Amino acid sequence: MSGKIVILTGAGISAESGLGTFRDVDGLWTQYDLNEVATPEGFERNPKLVLEFYNARRANCLGAAPNAAHEALARLQEGWAGEVVIVTQNVDDLHERGGARDVIHMHGQLDRALCADCGHRWDAPKEMFVEDACPKCSAPATRPDIVWFGEIPYAMDGIMDHLAGCETFVAIGTSGEVYPAAGFVHQARAVGARTVEINLEPSSVVSAFEETWFGPATEKVPEWVGRLLG
Ligand code: OAD
Repeated sequence: MSGKIVILTGAGISAESGLGTFRDVDGLWTQYDLNEVATPEGFERNPKLVLEFYNARRANCLGAAPNAAHEALARLQEGWAGEVVIVTQNVDDLHERGGARDVIHMHGQLDRALCADCGHRWDAPKEMFVEDACPKCSAPATRPDIVWFGEIPYAMDGIMDHLAGCETFVAIGTSGEVYPAAGFVHQARAVGARTVEINLEPSSVVSAFEETWFGPATEKVPEWVGRLLG
């Protein structure tokens, strides 16, 4: 086998780097109301609260380091004869700092800012404030470049093209609760791809996968990559 591998990652791959997941017992959505901090309506109601929430996420991310799972995926990109495409729902940059290339951030990035008025994007400062002006149009409409609930994920056309041409699809550290990402396994199966789930516990869509590896990402991902690279 040397065909295209498409990898979908979620919060579980960064959990052992110290970044919280969303839906586990101590997850972010058990501590915060996602309607208040992760929707365009929440941002309109209380931009300060939303910016502070993402300022805290950005600070956590800056203090975290990539783990053995991120690094194993970078090794796979380097050593595999075919193309290895990493699509992440994560807004951290641990894949990149772990050595991965051309990561597709379908839910945006903590280290990028977006003008809600003119759509301009730029590198986010460590902390964002309500009064921050867009460097292009000067509107005080700075928001994190994060895809919120009710918004359309980034790069969907490209992701669909990759899925249509993949030989293997693997989902790592994602609960399968959020679409469209949770449906990628079906698109991959429709083209006859081998499907693999690597997660701490079975996800909501586990029955769609042919092969499953359960355990911490820092153990299971290097094991799986080791098997592929022989
Ligand atoms: P979730 O918090 O929904 O799921 C995390 C998954 O990782 C769960 O299935 C856990 O069992 C698993 N997990 C936890 N620790 C792990 C470990 N050490 N090794 C392997 N797996 C582990 O996070 P996501 O599926 O990424 O979107 O959530 C999807 C989206 O929902 C996020 O991108 C975010 C969130 O709302 C937005 O904010 C727009």
